[in-house]
Amino acid sequence: MGEMGEEEIISSKALPMKGGDGPYSYTKNSYCQRVALDNIKEMINEAIAENLDIKHLSPISNTFCIADLGCSVGPNTFTSMNDIMEATVLKYHSEGLSSNLPEFHVFFNDHTANDFNTLFTSLPPDRQYFAAGVPGSFYIRLFPKASLHFVHSSFALHYLSKLPKEITDKNSPAYNKGKISYPTSSKEVVEAYASQFSKDFESFLNFRAEELVCGGLMVLIMTGIPDGSSRFQAIGATLDVLGYCLMDMAKMGLVSEAKVDSFNFPVYSPFRREVEELLERNRCFSVERFELVTRTRDVAATDVQAVTKHARAVTEEMIKQRFGSEIIDELYERVFQKLQEFPQFLDGIFKRSTQLFVVLKRQAMD
Ligand SMILES: C[S@@+](CC[C@H](N)C(=O)[O-])C[C@H]1O[C@@H](n2cnc3c(N)ncnc32)[C@H](O)[C@@H]1O
Repeated sequence: MGEMGEEEIISSKALPMKGGDGPYSYTKNSYCQRVALDNIKEMINEAIAENLDIKHLSPISNTFCIADLGCSVGPNTFTSMNDIMEATVLKYHSEGLSSNLPEFHVFFNDHTANDFNTLFTSLPPDRQYFAAGVPGSFYIRLFPKASLHFVHSSFALHYLSKLPKEITDKNSPAYNKGKISYPTSSKEVVEAYASQFSKDFESFLNFRAEELVCGGLMVLIMTGIPDGSSRFQAIGATLDVLGYCLMDMAKMGLVSEAKVDSFNFPVYSPFRREVEELLERNRCFSVERFELVTRTRDVAATDVQAVTKHARAVTEEMIKQRFGSEIIDELYERVFQKLQEFPQFLDGIFKRSTQLFVVLKRQAMD
């Protein structure tokens, strides 16, 4: 690999979920997202029933185009796409347009490193839509102008397009020594992450504004935390546990400490108000719904093994790229032990799950 730029290693291009369908795969370990999506299903149905103005939606022949951005390998994406399609068909019926049903075209997007083979081989055989893969980052233009009617994205927008430079600059006050994420880091580190998130989210909105037809809807389900609450929740807590375990291994000489110092996950969970402000600033969309959905889980019933596997499914690939595959089993065994030993981590990860649910409508072109 030689002197492959640090930036390239840490860009979220290198962050696919664990592919295939093995015991640690995303396919087998994405139930948390699925449960949250099931919870939100009714809200998506409502968004389509109330906000999708099919009579005035710019038609593209008789095709209704849906994109799932950051779809991963399934099966969640298939359930979501099916739910959206069914709710749209219902809407056609309720508007007296039963004889005019469109054909559906679903675009599955993720990074090129995503396991699209697993995605395509597990496409539901009885699906009622045409399927296509669209590789590439959703922080660039992915589709022709005004070609989509519906954009969906779940649990993907916390991935930044890249890690802020100063995080790995030894001479910067935002140098994140000994940590791989920001929740318990200095204010400078947190600010660097927050600022990258703002830039990325703005670009995301601007590119989608070009791709959606006038009147088209965008539903975003993204990790987000209540204003004023601790940042040590969900993803932040997961990465902190992983960071502590990596540091323990560095102290024992099992991994290089310098490598841990320069390694950081480019993911960020915004506060509710951060997203609200960015949406207010954007003139291309009207905000039809914006909510922080909270679910309290029964921690006592949480299975540490399952939590560890879930953490592994979403982080293993990147750890492997940075530290090699030799350390993987030991690292996640340590994560398992740490979670058993310190239930406060488990609380941080799983006690309360909060997501932002956002429905946006593309406004008429200026
Ligand atoms: C946690 S998974 C969520 C998958 C699925 N949407 C779900 O709800 O289960 C996040 C996915 O977003 C993808 N992702 C992250 N950043 C991305 C980007 N800039 N462009 C496209 N996909 C991205 C990741 O590769 C990963 O597959």
